[in-house]
Amino acid sequence: METGGRSPLLESGWRYVEKRELDEFRADDWAILAAQKPAYMAEQLADQAVRFLSASAGDPTFGYRINNYRHCLQSATRALADGRPEDYVVTALLHDIGFVACNATHGAFAAQLMAPHVGDDLVWMLAHHQYFQAIHYHGHPEADRHARDKWRGHPHFAMTAEFVAKYDQCAIDPDYREAPLETFMPMVRRVFARPPRKLPLPD
Ligand SMILES: [Fe+2]
Ligand SMILES: [Fe+2]
Repeated sequence: METGGRSPLLESGWRYVEKRELDEFRADDWAILAAQKPAYMAEQLADQAVRFLSASAGDPTFGYRINNYRHCLQSATRALADGRPEDYVVTALLHDIGFVACNATHGAFAAQLMAPHVGDDLVWMLAHHQYFQAIHYHGHPEADRHARDKWRGHPHFAMTAEFVAKYDQCAIDPDYREAPLETFMPMVRRVFARPPRKLPLPD
């Protein structure tokens, strides 16, 4: 894009805020954004979130027989085949969306992405799944296989352990016929179309 060029607006009838600093915005400028943002988010939010995942479709692996993209599809396909509700299936689809770019804290990454759109149980499951997974790391030289014991007794302990056992640790099978991403997009759009939950300010 040439210097000084503008990014396109989503809709041809929309307006730009001409100010160049937020400090210069006044009520009429905020009104422009407020009028255009809901329709923008309704059309773009789900697609832009999933694009982080779809962009990795052709990426290589460091040894697993399938890449992270197929792992995510496999996790969601297994959850769907088991009759899990839509928000659970979408959570499975996106649970490792940050696995490479945010590896060490990828559970928290996904939890933050989904927190406005799914319940506290699924958010907790996302945030903690990577630690619960360690129970399946037989013979791993460093992993604390019992890291999950820190949360034993927590109301979401059992569902997180079940997610990892049924839909995560086994979702690395090259012969499993996972559904394509398109299968899940209507579900993703419905979950992301929910009015976002108001979340508390961070500490
Ligand atoms: Fe993970
Ligand atoms: Fe995973």
